[in-house]
Amino acid sequence: MASSSIKAVRGTRDLLPPETDLWNRVEATARAVFARYGFGEIRTPLFEETSLFARGVGEETDIVSKEMYTWEDRARAASEKAQSLTLRPENTAGVVRAYIEHKLGDTGNLQKLFYIGPMFRRERPQRGRYRQFWQIGAEVIGPPTSGAESAVRDAEVLEMLASLLDELGITGWTLSVNSVGSSTDRPRYVAALREALAPIKDQLSPDNQRRAETNPLRVLDSKEETDQALIDGLPKIADFLDAESTEHFRQVLAALDACGVPYTVNPRLVRGLDYYTRTTFEFSHSVGLGSQNALLGGGRYDGLSEMLGGPRAPGIGFAIGEDRLILTLQAQAKAASATKKLDAFIAPMGVERNAAALALAKDLRRAGLSVEVGDGGFRLKKSFEAADKVARRIVILGEDEVASEVYTVKEFATATQTKVPKAELVEALQA
Ligand code: HAM
Repeated sequence: MASSSIKAVRGTRDLLPPETDLWNRVEATARAVFARYGFGEIRTPLFEETSLFARGVGEETDIVSKEMYTWEDRARAASEKAQSLTLRPENTAGVVRAYIEHKLGDTGNLQKLFYIGPMFRRERPQRGRYRQFWQIGAEVIGPPTSGAESAVRDAEVLEMLASLLDELGITGWTLSVNSVGSSTDRPRYVAALREALAPIKDQLSPDNQRRAETNPLRVLDSKEETDQALIDGLPKIADFLDAESTEHFRQVLAALDACGVPYTVNPRLVRGLDYYTRTTFEFSHSVGLGSQNALLGGGRYDGLSEMLGGPRAPGIGFAIGEDRLILTLQAQAKAASATKKLDAFIAPMGVERNAAALALAKDLRRAGLSVEVGDGGFRLKKSFEAADKVARRIVILGEDEVASEVYTVKEFATATQTKVPKAELVEALQA
């Protein structure tokens, strides 16, 4: 009996040529841009001790509470201890661990580090969301004396991202920014949120009822349609920022204005990881990603080093979802090639219609349309395939059409088929 074939695990996938050429081009461009801004590469292990993520990313986050690939690693020798290990769901915690472990702060300098590699989250797979996915990320971190806390760093990172996306040819991205305040602002805000959520909790969807209990900040970035009006009415973090955080955010926005980086302030952007303080941001794109439209996300994490037992080391960084970036580039290329297609492909049905097809093509071309002519020797299916490759529409020229001078026109993008009299054909094909 033949055994069934083994497939890639759900939520993972193979990347094959020629698509891998595009991945390499994206990564080469990212490396070149990072070099111009003074970033060097860091490579951290694909797995870490589970407690790194529990402490860094936060026990109550979706990532740690339900999405991590964690296992109990057996001891192989008496000198070893069994330990809980986890495939990295993200890399900021790993980079900060490495920063602490290698005492990178002792140089007194700002560390600018970038990474490119796979991350692992047990999420529900869909377009743009995988269980093994790739991130291109960068972190700027240093001792307080290095200026790591300055708003200049935030704006520089955001301006670099805008330049990178532009250089990659991503058009139409949008940047949302927010400030989630200092580690003392956040608890005050969370307390206010809890208070505001308590009387309306029963009206929320079951997911948000749970979040209202466990992690009220998560209610803010819920996409649950029916909860939106209630969420819009909740207190805003901006009203809970202390004077320094307010001033920091003002400086970030002023620097973005000076660099000409367009943004919108989204007071609900709190992001799904616990380490964030002050600036948070997301770049989104509407083409090719469906509901998973966050191309990249990031923010400041001024307390993360201390949470991991290290010295004070403010930082800011981001991670681009490389899979999503590639999907966006592919969707854009497809849209661009569609607009480059000819206005029409004329398909004669039978070689006796070849001359009529050529005569019709002549009239249409003289009217300024771009037209290709098929061959009457083609079967209908082959005509359709040939037409779809080069033109936006097919005009079918059979015996009836030649006699009646009413043509059948099919528009590929919308899959609509219409009958168009000769007198109206130029106008129909110009649309
Ligand atoms: P994150 O928002 O969890 O942030 O992930 C960053 C980006 O990774 C997302 O915007 C998305 O494009 C991509 N991504 C996340 N999950 C998936 C998935 N399952 N499939 C495909 N793409 C995905 C972080 O990871 C932070 N470490 C970013 C950061 C760096 N903050 C400061 N420094």
